[in-house]
Amino acid sequence: MMRRIFGLLILSIAISTHLQQTLAEEAQMILGKKVFLELSEPQCALCHTLADAGSTGPVGPVLDELKPTAERVRTAVTKGIGPMPANTILTREQVDAVALYVSTVTSTK
Ligand code: HEC
Repeated sequence: MMRRIFGLLILSIAISTHLQQTLAEEAQMILGKKVFLELSEPQCALCHTLADAGSTGPVGPVLDELKPTAERVRTAVTKGIGPMPANTILTREQVDAVALYVSTVTSTK
């Protein structure tokens, strides 16, 4: 009996931990899209085409084709690259979110 209760307890902790992680990632994806479309300055969407965000910016590479890793997005955003300006207003959390968002929505296609 005790073993069974203990087993159930472990199971429910495992499920809730998994759920929390999923929810946290979901929240980060939502924030990332918002950074891409609104919070960045100038906005990523003005320069980049990204199907998931519905953007058709013609200046930078088409992100759906480039399929950058999260690390590559983070480096481009924090340091700037070529004519792309380095970010000066986004928090680290926002940069992480946009890196996760862009790498995730482009890697599934
Ligand atoms: C003013 C236009 C402009 C804005 C705004 C802009 N980019 Fe770019 N981006 C570019 C251009 C141009 C390049 C190509 C630079 C090069 O290769 O010399 C680029 C390159 C990139 C790359 C590829 C980097 C690499 O390693 O080749 C990524 C990823 C990227 N941008 C993501 C973003 C994200 C995310 C944002 C918003 C936070 C953003 N960009 C905002 C113009 C822009």
